[in-house]
Amino acid sequence: MTATQDISTGVDLDHRADIDFVLSLRRRWADTMYPALRHEYDVATRADPPVTRKEAAPVVHQLPRYRWFAWMERGSQKQLWRAVADAVGDGHAIEVPESPIGSLELNPDLVLPDWYTDWDIHVQPGGVWRADASAEVYELGAKLVMLGGNDDYTFHRLFTDAIAQDLGDREVTRLVDLGCGFGKSTWPLKKAFPSAEVIGVDLAAPCLKMAHAKAEAQGLAIRLRQADATDTGLEPDSADLVTATMTLHEMPQPAIRAFFAEAARILKPGGLLRLLEFQFTGEPFRDLAMMEHGSRNNEPFMPGMMATDTAALANDSGLANARWVAFDERPEGGRLDGLKWPNRAEWHFPWAILEAEKPS
Ligand SMILES: C[S@@+](CC[C@H](N)C(=O)[O-])C[C@H]1O[C@@H](n2cnc3c(N)ncnc32)[C@H](O)[C@@H]1O
Repeated sequence: MTATQDISTGVDLDHRADIDFVLSLRRRWADTMYPALRHEYDVATRADPPVTRKEAAPVVHQLPRYRWFAWMERGSQKQLWRAVADAVGDGHAIEVPESPIGSLELNPDLVLPDWYTDWDIHVQPGGVWRADASAEVYELGAKLVMLGGNDDYTFHRLFTDAIAQDLGDREVTRLVDLGCGFGKSTWPLKKAFPSAEVIGVDLAAPCLKMAHAKAEAQGLAIRLRQADATDTGLEPDSADLVTATMTLHEMPQPAIRAFFAEAARILKPGGLLRLLEFQFTGEPFRDLAMMEHGSRNNEPFMPGMMATDTAALANDSGLANARWVAFDERPEGGRLDGLKWPNRAEWHFPWAILEAEKPS
């Protein structure tokens, strides 16, 4: 291993070469393979376009590029974690100041649900919870999964901006981010609502430790709490805002229902729920690709979440006016009107925000 460090990631140059290779492969898959497969599909279905993703499936599966496309999606994801895990090694001690301005509430007695531990989510060996280094691996891997397009966490800021606009002048005294991971969704919320008590909740102790250390390093007083989002232990009627980014699709349906019930329990009457997730677009080819992404990326509950009427589920669980709006994650993007996305040739996630409130 050379001693030379790459400034942008802190990864030494030998490992950086592996990471660059995987990143190029993933970009090639997204910006060349996907449009090429799409072109084959358009040609094959010109005379009789499928109306549903079920109708589209047998056509797509017989296209010449399909096997390559599917292999590159799964294979490059596996290579990604190998490259990142090699670069991180045993990890580095996470340093926290002796007198932190925020807090870290770990719960060694918490039993992680089977549906959470049974799967190596995103194909990350051991998931995000097994060892201290898991958070470091996840942090670096997440940048590659987003193809380098979210290295400075742009879309988490765009999501926060959309929420801040909704809240206007309203006073926010408590805000809870459910499934906060290593904190990249929680830090911008604290920056946008500096006087609020901001609480990040997650099942994964390694992620919470990293979220805490990085919050402290940024001078952000955040309370990080190890708990299930379906049973946070927080006071009822106490939060003005409950958020979650990319959490819901990692949960099976009974847990999603319990998640909404818990959000409704901890929100103040009139409080807002804002979730950043994925939704079907109504385009059979694109929706099929997203369904299969769930399988190839070890996201076992993603297809189920997308096929469920989650807005109805939220309304049935004590919330009101639940509706989805499209979201564009690019720097010039943000919240869109209705459930309609701009046309884009490359593979990308169909981001959407679920908005709901607790009845007053
Ligand atoms: C894809 S990550 C997103 C993390 C963060 N919100 C972000 O945008 O970077 C999903 C997170 O949700 C957490 N999670 C999944 N199910 C959960 C549950 N029932 N309760 C708490 N956290 C959960 C996982 O541990 C993981 O950190």
